[in-house]
Amino acid sequence: MPAVIVVGTQWGDEGKGKATDQLGSEVDLVVKFNGGNNAGHTVVIDGEKYALHLLPAGILSEGVTPIIGNGVVVDLEVLFQEMEDLESRGRDVSHLRISSNAHIIPPYNRLMDRVTEKFLGKRQLGTTGRGIGPSYADKMNRIGIRIQDLFDPSILRQKVEGALANKNHLLVKVFNKRAVDVDEVTNELLSYADRVRPMVVDSSLLVNEALDEGKTVLFEAGQATMLDIDHGTYPFVTSSSATAGGACTGAGVGPTRIDSVVGVSKAYTTRVGEGPFPTELFGDEGDELRERGGEFGVTTGRPRRTGWFDGVVSRYAARVNGLTDLVITKLDVLTGYDQIPVCVAYDVDGERVEEMPMTQSDFHHAKPIYEYLPGWTEDITQVRKFEDLPENAQSYIRRIEQISGVRVSVIGVGPGREAAIVCHELTGK
Ligand code: GDP
Ligand code: IMO
Ligand code: MG
Repeated sequence: MPAVIVVGTQWGDEGKGKATDQLGSEVDLVVKFNGGNNAGHTVVIDGEKYALHLLPAGILSEGVTPIIGNGVVVDLEVLFQEMEDLESRGRDVSHLRISSNAHIIPPYNRLMDRVTEKFLGKRQLGTTGRGIGPSYADKMNRIGIRIQDLFDPSILRQKVEGALANKNHLLVKVFNKRAVDVDEVTNELLSYADRVRPMVVDSSLLVNEALDEGKTVLFEAGQATMLDIDHGTYPFVTSSSATAGGACTGAGVGPTRIDSVVGVSKAYTTRVGEGPFPTELFGDEGDELRERGGEFGVTTGRPRRTGWFDGVVSRYAARVNGLTDLVITKLDVLTGYDQIPVCVAYDVDGERVEEMPMTQSDFHHAKPIYEYLPGWTEDITQVRKFEDLPENAQSYIRRIEQISGVRVSVIGVGPGREAAIVCHELTGK
Protein backbone atom coordinates (compact mmCIF):
# COMPACT_ATOMS: atom_id res chain seq x y z
CA MET A 1 0.00 0.00 0.00
CA PRO A 2 2.03 2.95 -1.14
CA ALA A 3 -0.01 5.98 0.04
CA VAL A 4 -0.97 6.01 3.71
CA ILE A 5 -2.51 8.90 5.62
CA VAL A 6 -2.03 9.06 9.40
CA VAL A 7 -4.50 11.26 11.30
CA GLY A 8 -5.46 11.88 14.90
CA THR A 9 -9.00 10.79 15.77
CA GLN A 10 -9.47 12.81 18.97
CA TRP A 11 -8.20 16.23 20.13
CA GLY A 12 -4.53 15.71 19.33
CA ASP A 13 -1.55 14.13 21.10
CA GLU A 14 -2.75 10.62 20.32
CA GLY A 15 0.77 9.45 19.50
CA LYS A 16 0.85 10.25 15.78
CA GLY A 17 4.56 11.04 15.96
CA LYS A 18 5.36 7.65 17.39
CA ALA A 19 3.11 5.91 14.84
CA THR A 20 4.86 7.74 11.98
CA ASP A 21 8.26 6.92 13.41
CA GLN A 22 7.38 3.25 13.76
CA LEU A 23 6.53 3.08 10.07
CA GLY A 24 9.77 4.86 9.18
CA SER A 25 11.69 1.85 7.92
CA GLU A 26 8.87 0.96 5.50
CA VAL A 27 8.42 4.44 4.07
CA ASP A 28 10.25 6.49 1.41
CA LEU A 29 8.64 9.90 1.87
CA VAL A 30 6.84 11.49 4.83
CA VAL A 31 4.77 14.57 4.05
CA LYS A 32 3.42 16.84 6.75
CA PHE A 33 0.29 18.34 5.22
CA ASN A 34 -1.26 20.72 7.76
CA GLY A 35 -0.58 22.81 10.84
CA GLY A 36 2.76 24.17 11.94
CA ASN A 37 4.71 24.38 15.15
CA ASN A 38 1.50 24.18 17.20
CA ALA A 39 2.07 20.42 16.96
CA GLY A 40 4.19 18.57 19.46
CA HIS A 41 5.19 15.04 18.61
CA THR A 42 7.23 12.97 21.03
CA VAL A 43 9.32 10.16 19.64
CA VAL A 44 11.41 7.93 21.88
CA ILE A 45 14.26 6.05 20.19
CA ASP A 46 16.53 3.82 22.27
CA GLY A 47 15.41 5.66 25.38
CA GLU A 48 16.25 9.06 23.89
CA LYS A 49 13.38 11.51 23.64
CA TYR A 50 12.82 13.87 20.71
CA ALA A 51 10.14 16.58 20.63
CA LEU A 52 9.22 17.71 17.13
CA HIS A 53 6.99 20.64 16.36
CA LEU A 54 7.26 21.95 12.81
CA LEU A 55 9.35 19.14 11.36
CA PRO A 56 7.61 15.94 10.25
CA ALA A 57 8.22 13.09 12.70
CA GLY A 58 9.46 11.06 9.72
CA ILE A 59 12.68 13.12 9.81
CA LEU A 60 14.03 10.76 12.48
CA SER A 61 13.92 7.72 10.20
CA GLU A 62 16.93 6.87 8.09
CA GLY A 63 16.39 6.83 4.35
CA VAL A 64 13.18 8.84 4.51
CA THR A 65 12.70 12.12 2.61
CA PRO A 66 10.73 14.40 4.96
CA ILE A 67 8.59 17.02 3.22
CA ILE A 68 6.80 20.08 4.54
CA GLY A 69 3.77 20.27 2.25
CA ASN A 70 1.94 23.28 0.85
CA GLY A 71 -0.76 22.95 3.55
CA VAL A 72 1.67 23.73 6.36
CA VAL A 73 2.43 27.17 7.84
CA VAL A 74 6.15 27.64 8.45
CA ASP A 75 7.80 29.73 11.15
CA LEU A 76 11.29 30.15 9.67
CA GLU A 77 12.99 30.85 12.97
CA VAL A 78 11.53 27.65 14.41
CA LEU A 79 12.42 25.70 11.28
CA PHE A 80 16.12 26.40 11.61
CA GLN A 81 16.11 26.08 15.39
CA GLU A 82 14.60 22.59 15.16
CA MET A 83 16.95 21.58 12.36
CA GLU A 84 19.96 22.76 14.37
CA ASP A 85 18.74 20.98 17.50
CA LEU A 86 18.45 17.69 15.63
CA GLU A 87 21.80 18.13 13.91
CA SER A 88 23.50 18.76 17.25
CA ARG A 89 22.11 15.40 18.38
CA GLY A 90 23.64 13.66 15.39
CA ARG A 91 20.51 13.45 13.23
CA ASP A 92 20.72 13.99 9.48
CA VAL A 93 18.26 16.68 8.35
CA SER A 94 19.80 17.33 4.95
CA HIS A 95 16.96 15.57 3.08
CA LEU A 96 14.26 17.95 4.29
CA ARG A 97 12.23 19.53 1.47
CA ILE A 98 9.70 22.36 1.66
CA SER A 99 6.88 23.22 -0.73
CA SER A 100 7.29 26.54 -2.52
CA ASN A 101 3.57 27.08 -1.89
CA ALA A 102 3.72 26.63 1.89
CA HIS A 103 2.80 29.78 3.79
CA ILE A 104 5.10 31.54 6.23
CA ILE A 105 4.19 32.56 9.77
CA PRO A 106 5.54 36.13 9.78
CA PRO A 107 6.58 37.42 13.21
CA TYR A 108 3.60 39.79 13.37
CA ASN A 109 1.19 36.85 13.34
CA ARG A 110 2.66 35.46 16.54
CA LEU A 111 1.87 38.83 18.05
CA MET A 112 -1.63 38.87 16.50
CA ASP A 113 -2.34 35.40 17.95
CA ARG A 114 -1.45 36.49 21.46
CA VAL A 115 -3.20 39.86 21.46
CA THR A 116 -6.34 38.36 19.92
CA GLU A 117 -6.49 35.70 22.64
CA LYS A 118 -6.01 38.33 25.32
CA PHE A 119 -8.73 40.47 23.76
CA LEU A 120 -11.15 37.54 23.78
CA GLY A 121 -10.79 37.29 27.57
CA LYS A 122 -13.10 34.57 28.91
CA ARG A 123 -13.99 33.53 25.37
CA GLN A 124 -10.39 32.70 24.47
CA LEU A 125 -9.60 29.44 22.66
CA GLY A 126 -6.41 28.58 24.49
CA THR A 127 -4.31 28.57 21.31
CA THR A 128 -0.65 27.64 21.36
CA GLY A 129 0.23 31.30 20.61
CA ARG A 130 2.36 30.31 17.63
CA GLY A 131 0.59 32.50 15.05
CA ILE A 132 -1.24 29.59 13.42
CA GLY A 133 -4.76 31.07 13.23
CA PRO A 134 -3.72 34.50 11.90
CA SER A 135 -1.47 32.90 9.26
CA TYR A 136 -4.19 30.62 7.92
CA ALA A 137 -6.57 33.57 8.05
CA ASP A 138 -4.11 35.57 5.91
CA LYS A 139 -3.89 32.66 3.48
CA MET A 140 -7.68 32.57 3.04
CA ASN A 141 -7.78 36.35 2.99
CA ARG A 142 -5.19 36.25 0.18
CA ILE A 143 -2.70 38.39 2.06
CA GLY A 144 -0.42 35.53 3.13
CA ILE A 145 3.33 35.31 2.49
CA ARG A 146 4.58 32.15 0.84
CA ILE A 147 7.97 30.43 0.87
CA GLN A 148 8.47 31.33 -2.81
CA ASP A 149 8.08 35.04 -1.97
CA LEU A 150 11.45 34.90 -0.19
CA PHE A 151 13.12 34.75 -3.59
CA ASP A 152 11.65 37.96 -4.96
CA PRO A 153 12.53 40.79 -2.52
CA SER A 154 10.36 43.46 -4.11
CA ILE A 155 7.30 41.18 -4.21
CA LEU A 156 8.01 40.15 -0.62
CA ARG A 157 8.12 43.76 0.53
CA GLN A 158 4.88 44.56 -1.30
CA LYS A 159 3.17 41.60 0.30
CA VAL A 160 4.39 42.42 3.81
CA GLU A 161 3.26 46.00 3.29
CA GLY A 162 -0.15 44.80 2.11
CA ALA A 163 -0.60 42.50 5.07
CA LEU A 164 0.47 45.15 7.59
CA ALA A 165 -1.76 47.87 6.17
CA ASN A 166 -4.73 46.47 8.05
CA LYS A 167 -2.94 44.82 10.92
CA ASN A 168 -1.07 47.94 11.98
CA HIS A 169 -4.37 49.80 12.35
CA LEU A 170 -5.64 47.00 14.53
CA LEU A 171 -2.45 46.77 16.56
CA VAL A 172 -2.29 50.48 17.26
CA LYS A 173 -5.92 51.48 17.55
CA VAL A 174 -7.51 48.39 19.06
CA PHE A 175 -4.76 46.48 20.82
CA ASN A 176 -2.73 49.48 21.98
CA LYS A 177 0.53 48.11 20.57
CA ARG A 178 3.28 49.64 18.46
CA ALA A 179 3.00 49.43 14.68
CA VAL A 180 5.17 46.77 13.01
CA ASP A 181 7.81 48.08 10.64
CA VAL A 182 7.52 46.80 7.05
CA ASP A 183 11.24 46.92 6.30
CA GLU A 184 12.20 45.25 9.53
CA VAL A 185 9.93 42.29 8.81
CA THR A 186 10.94 42.09 5.16
CA ASN A 187 14.63 42.05 6.08
CA GLU A 188 14.12 39.46 8.77
CA LEU A 189 12.33 37.15 6.33
CA LEU A 190 14.91 37.78 3.61
CA SER A 191 17.70 36.80 5.98
CA TYR A 192 16.45 33.19 5.73
CA ALA A 193 16.19 33.10 1.93
CA ASP A 194 19.61 31.64 1.09
CA ARG A 195 19.31 28.89 3.67
CA VAL A 196 15.80 27.95 2.59
CA ARG A 197 16.46 27.97 -1.16
CA PRO A 198 18.15 24.53 -1.50
CA MET A 199 15.25 22.86 0.30
CA VAL A 200 12.43 24.33 -1.78
CA VAL A 201 10.60 22.06 -4.22
CA ASP A 202 7.35 21.56 -6.08
CA SER A 203 6.27 19.05 -3.46
CA SER A 204 3.15 17.95 -5.32
CA LEU A 205 5.30 16.93 -8.28
CA LEU A 206 7.82 15.19 -6.04
CA VAL A 207 5.16 13.21 -4.18
CA ASN A 208 3.22 12.20 -7.30
CA GLU A 209 6.39 11.09 -9.06
CA ALA A 210 7.34 9.02 -6.03
CA LEU A 211 3.93 7.34 -6.12
CA ASP A 212 4.31 6.70 -9.86
CA GLU A 213 7.58 4.91 -9.10
CA GLY A 214 5.82 2.66 -6.57
CA LYS A 215 7.41 4.32 -3.56
CA THR A 216 5.65 4.41 -0.20
CA VAL A 217 4.45 7.83 0.97
CA LEU A 218 3.12 8.58 4.41
CA PHE A 219 1.00 11.69 4.91
CA GLU A 220 1.42 12.89 8.48
CA ALA A 221 -1.26 15.03 10.14
CA GLY A 222 -0.71 17.52 12.88
CA GLN A 223 -3.60 18.08 15.32
CA ALA A 224 -6.65 15.86 14.90
CA THR A 225 -10.21 15.28 13.71
CA MET A 226 -11.89 17.10 16.59
CA LEU A 227 -9.56 20.09 16.07
CA ASP A 228 -10.19 20.21 12.30
CA ILE A 229 -11.45 23.57 11.05
CA ASP A 230 -14.47 21.96 9.31
CA HIS A 231 -15.15 18.81 11.29
CA GLY A 232 -13.93 19.68 14.78
CA THR A 233 -15.61 21.36 17.73
CA TYR A 234 -15.68 24.76 16.04
CA PRO A 235 -14.71 27.40 17.14
CA PHE A 236 -12.55 25.46 19.61
CA VAL A 237 -10.39 24.07 16.83
CA THR A 238 -7.16 24.80 15.05
CA SER A 239 -7.21 26.63 11.71
CA SER A 240 -6.23 23.85 9.31
CA SER A 241 -7.66 20.68 7.76
CA ALA A 242 -6.36 17.93 10.01
CA THR A 243 -8.61 15.21 8.59
CA ALA A 244 -7.77 12.85 5.73
CA GLY A 245 -9.13 15.17 3.05
CA GLY A 246 -6.56 17.72 4.17
CA ALA A 247 -3.80 15.36 3.07
CA CYS A 248 -4.93 15.69 -0.55
CA THR A 249 -5.12 19.48 -0.59
CA GLY A 250 -2.19 19.94 1.79
CA ALA A 251 0.17 17.74 -0.24
CA GLY A 252 -1.18 18.11 -3.77
CA VAL A 253 -2.29 14.53 -4.44
CA GLY A 254 -5.66 13.29 -5.70
CA PRO A 255 -7.95 11.21 -3.47
CA THR A 256 -7.73 8.33 -5.97
CA ARG A 257 -4.08 7.86 -5.05
CA ILE A 258 -4.70 7.15 -1.38
CA ASP A 259 -4.64 3.51 -0.30
CA SER A 260 -5.31 3.64 3.41
CA VAL A 261 -6.17 6.01 6.22
CA VAL A 262 -4.85 5.20 9.67
CA GLY A 263 -6.49 6.83 12.68
CA VAL A 264 -4.43 7.17 15.84
CA SER A 265 -6.35 7.15 19.09
CA LYS A 266 -5.46 6.96 22.73
CA ALA A 267 -7.09 4.15 24.73
CA TYR A 268 -8.66 7.06 26.65
CA THR A 269 -8.99 10.78 25.70
CA THR A 270 -7.13 14.04 26.30
CA ARG A 271 -7.59 17.62 25.22
CA VAL A 272 -5.46 20.78 25.60
CA GLY A 273 -7.06 24.22 25.47
CA GLU A 274 -10.70 25.19 25.72
CA GLY A 275 -13.81 23.57 24.28
CA PRO A 276 -16.33 20.79 24.92
CA PHE A 277 -15.15 17.32 26.00
CA PRO A 278 -18.03 15.05 27.06
CA THR A 279 -16.04 12.27 28.76
CA GLU A 280 -13.79 14.65 30.70
CA LEU A 281 -12.84 13.66 34.24
CA PHE A 282 -12.42 16.23 36.97
CA GLY A 283 -10.81 16.34 40.40
CA ASP A 284 -8.90 13.31 41.65
CA GLU A 285 -10.05 11.05 38.82
CA GLY A 286 -8.81 13.45 36.17
CA ASP A 287 -5.54 14.02 38.06
CA GLU A 288 -4.95 10.29 38.41
CA LEU A 289 -5.28 9.63 34.69
CA ARG A 290 -3.10 12.68 33.91
CA GLU A 291 -0.37 11.43 36.24
CA ARG A 292 -0.54 7.84 34.98
CA GLY A 293 -0.37 8.96 31.35
CA GLY A 294 2.13 11.81 31.85
CA GLU A 295 -0.38 14.09 30.17
CA PHE A 296 1.41 17.41 29.90
CA GLY A 297 1.66 19.24 26.57
CA VAL A 298 4.82 18.88 24.48
CA THR A 299 4.44 22.35 22.95
CA THR A 300 3.19 24.54 25.78
CA GLY A 301 3.73 22.32 28.83
CA ARG A 302 0.08 22.79 29.81
CA PRO A 303 -1.59 19.96 31.77
CA ARG A 304 -3.86 18.06 29.41
CA ARG A 305 -7.50 17.57 30.30
CA THR A 306 -8.20 13.83 30.63
CA GLY A 307 -11.20 11.55 30.18
CA TRP A 308 -12.41 8.11 29.10
CA PHE A 309 -12.51 6.70 25.57
CA ASP A 310 -15.32 8.26 23.58
CA GLY A 311 -16.89 5.81 21.15
CA VAL A 312 -19.08 8.46 19.53
CA VAL A 313 -15.99 10.50 18.67
CA SER A 314 -14.24 7.40 17.31
CA ARG A 315 -17.22 6.50 15.08
CA TYR A 316 -17.33 10.08 13.85
CA ALA A 317 -13.58 10.07 13.11
CA ALA A 318 -13.99 6.77 11.26
CA ARG A 319 -16.66 8.39 9.09
CA VAL A 320 -15.13 11.77 8.25
CA ASN A 321 -11.70 10.29 7.55
CA GLY A 322 -12.79 7.01 5.95
CA LEU A 323 -10.51 5.15 8.36
CA THR A 324 -9.20 1.77 7.29
CA ASP A 325 -7.16 1.07 10.44
CA LEU A 326 -6.86 2.22 14.02
CA VAL A 327 -3.70 2.53 16.08
CA ILE A 328 -4.64 2.46 19.78
CA THR A 329 -1.92 3.99 21.92
CA LYS A 330 -1.25 4.04 25.66
CA LEU A 331 -3.15 0.87 26.52
CA ASP A 332 -0.47 0.38 29.20
CA VAL A 333 -1.69 3.52 30.98
CA LEU A 334 -5.02 1.82 31.76
CA THR A 335 -3.37 -1.10 33.59
CA GLY A 336 -4.53 -1.26 37.19
CA TYR A 337 -8.05 0.12 36.89
CA ASP A 338 -10.73 -2.29 38.27
CA GLN A 339 -13.08 -1.30 35.53
CA ILE A 340 -12.78 1.06 32.61
CA PRO A 341 -15.69 3.17 31.45
CA VAL A 342 -16.13 3.51 27.68
CA CYS A 343 -18.60 6.01 26.27
CA VAL A 344 -20.93 4.28 23.78
CA ALA A 345 -23.52 7.04 23.24
CA TYR A 346 -24.55 10.45 24.56
CA ASP A 347 -27.54 11.61 26.52
CA VAL A 348 -28.53 14.93 24.96
CA ASP A 349 -31.29 16.58 26.99
CA GLY A 350 -32.81 13.21 27.88
CA GLU A 351 -32.47 11.63 24.47
CA ARG A 352 -30.00 8.81 23.65
CA VAL A 353 -27.81 9.85 20.71
CA GLU A 354 -25.50 7.37 18.95
CA GLU A 355 -23.87 9.73 16.47
CA MET A 356 -22.09 13.07 16.84
CA PRO A 357 -24.81 15.70 17.52
CA MET A 358 -25.42 17.96 14.56
CA THR A 359 -25.15 21.25 16.44
CA GLN A 360 -22.59 22.71 18.79
CA SER A 361 -25.26 23.45 21.41
CA ASP A 362 -26.29 19.79 21.52
CA PHE A 363 -22.65 18.71 21.76
CA HIS A 364 -22.17 21.07 24.71
CA HIS A 365 -25.12 19.34 26.42
CA ALA A 366 -23.95 15.80 25.60
CA LYS A 367 -23.48 13.57 28.64
CA PRO A 368 -21.65 10.28 28.20
CA ILE A 369 -23.51 6.99 28.51
CA TYR A 370 -20.92 4.51 29.75
CA GLU A 371 -20.41 0.83 29.45
CA TYR A 372 -18.04 -0.52 32.13
CA LEU A 373 -15.41 -2.96 30.93
CA PRO A 374 -13.38 -5.09 33.37
CA GLY A 375 -9.74 -4.01 33.84
CA TRP A 376 -6.48 -5.92 34.21
CA THR A 377 -3.51 -5.69 36.57
CA GLU A 378 -0.71 -7.44 34.64
CA ASP A 379 2.14 -5.30 33.29
CA ILE A 380 1.65 -5.25 29.52
CA THR A 381 4.61 -3.08 28.52
CA GLN A 382 6.66 -6.08 27.34
CA VAL A 383 3.83 -7.76 25.41
CA ARG A 384 4.38 -7.93 21.64
CA LYS A 385 1.60 -10.33 20.55
CA PHE A 386 -2.12 -9.72 20.84
CA GLU A 387 -2.73 -13.23 22.25
CA ASP A 388 -0.29 -12.49 25.09
CA LEU A 389 -2.36 -9.55 26.36
CA PRO A 390 -4.51 -10.24 29.43
CA GLU A 391 -7.98 -11.40 28.37
CA ASN A 392 -9.65 -8.22 29.60
CA ALA A 393 -7.19 -6.04 27.66
CA GLN A 394 -7.98 -8.07 24.53
CA SER A 395 -11.72 -7.57 25.18
CA TYR A 396 -11.16 -3.84 25.64
CA ILE A 397 -9.53 -3.60 22.20
CA ARG A 398 -12.22 -5.80 20.60
CA ARG A 399 -14.94 -3.56 22.06
CA ILE A 400 -13.23 -0.45 20.64
CA GLU A 401 -13.23 -2.15 17.24
CA GLN A 402 -16.96 -2.88 17.52
CA ILE A 403 -17.84 0.61 18.66
CA SER A 404 -15.78 2.43 16.06
CA GLY A 405 -16.34 -0.04 13.25
CA VAL A 406 -12.62 -0.02 12.36
CA ARG A 407 -10.08 -2.80 12.86
CA VAL A 408 -7.32 -2.16 15.38
CA SER A 409 -4.03 -2.78 13.60
CA VAL A 410 -1.46 -1.58 16.13
CA ILE A 411 -1.60 -1.29 19.93
CA GLY A 412 0.86 0.90 21.83
CA VAL A 413 2.07 -0.44 25.17
CA GLY A 414 4.80 2.10 25.96
CA PRO A 415 6.44 5.27 24.60
CA GLY A 416 9.42 3.53 22.93
CA ARG A 417 9.64 2.78 19.21
CA GLU A 418 9.57 -0.96 19.94
CA ALA A 419 6.68 -0.89 22.43
CA ALA A 420 3.87 -1.95 20.14
CA ILE A 421 1.76 -4.93 19.16
CA VAL A 422 1.25 -5.15 15.41
CA CYS A 423 -1.93 -7.02 14.49
CA HIS A 424 -2.01 -5.94 10.83
CA GLU A 425 0.83 -4.37 8.83
CA LEU A 426 -0.07 -0.78 7.95
CA THR A 427 1.89 -0.31 4.75
CA GLY A 428 1.34 -3.78 3.34
CA LYS A 429 5.12 -4.28 3.24
P1 GDP B 1 1.24 13.38 18.86
O1 GDP B 1 1.14 14.86 18.94
O2 GDP B 1 -0.01 12.74 18.34
O3 GDP B 1 2.46 12.91 18.12
O4 GDP B 1 1.40 12.86 20.37
P2 GDP B 1 2.32 13.50 21.54
O5 GDP B 1 3.72 13.11 21.29
O6 GDP B 1 1.97 14.91 21.74
O7 GDP B 1 1.73 12.76 22.81
C1 GDP B 1 1.74 11.36 22.93
C2 GDP B 1 2.53 10.98 24.21
O8 GDP B 1 2.32 9.62 24.49
C3 GDP B 1 4.03 11.11 24.04
O9 GDP B 1 4.56 11.47 25.29
C4 GDP B 1 4.48 9.71 23.65
O10 GDP B 1 5.81 9.43 24.01
C5 GDP B 1 3.53 8.89 24.45
N1 GDP B 1 3.16 7.59 23.87
C6 GDP B 1 2.85 7.28 22.58
N2 GDP B 1 2.42 6.02 22.49
C7 GDP B 1 2.46 5.51 23.75
C8 GDP B 1 2.10 4.23 24.32
O11 GDP B 1 1.64 3.32 23.66
N3 GDP B 1 2.25 4.13 25.68
C9 GDP B 1 2.73 5.12 26.47
N4 GDP B 1 2.83 4.91 27.78
N5 GDP B 1 3.06 6.32 25.96
C10 GDP B 1 2.93 6.50 24.64
P1 IMO C 1 -0.50 17.64 17.90
O1 IMO C 1 -0.08 17.59 16.47
C1 IMO C 1 -3.25 19.14 20.94
C2 IMO C 1 -5.07 23.06 20.20
C3 IMO C 1 -4.67 24.20 21.11
C4 IMO C 1 -5.95 25.03 21.09
C5 IMO C 1 -6.42 24.87 19.65
C6 IMO C 1 -6.06 26.03 18.73
O2 IMO C 1 0.62 17.58 18.87
O3 IMO C 1 -1.58 16.63 18.18
P2 IMO C 1 -3.76 26.79 17.60
O4 IMO C 1 -2.49 27.26 18.22
O5 IMO C 1 -3.61 25.60 16.70
O6 IMO C 1 -4.52 27.90 16.93
O7 IMO C 1 -4.68 26.34 18.85
O8 IMO C 1 -5.85 23.66 19.17
N1 IMO C 1 -3.95 22.36 19.54
C7 IMO C 1 -3.50 21.15 19.88
N2 IMO C 1 -3.90 20.32 20.88
N3 IMO C 1 -2.32 18.73 20.07
C8 IMO C 1 -1.94 19.53 19.05
O9 IMO C 1 -1.09 19.13 18.08
C9 IMO C 1 -2.51 20.82 18.95
N4 IMO C 1 -2.36 21.85 18.08
C10 IMO C 1 -3.24 22.78 18.45
O10 IMO C 1 -4.36 23.74 22.40
O11 IMO C 1 -6.92 24.44 21.92
MG1 MG D 1 1.24 16.37 20.35
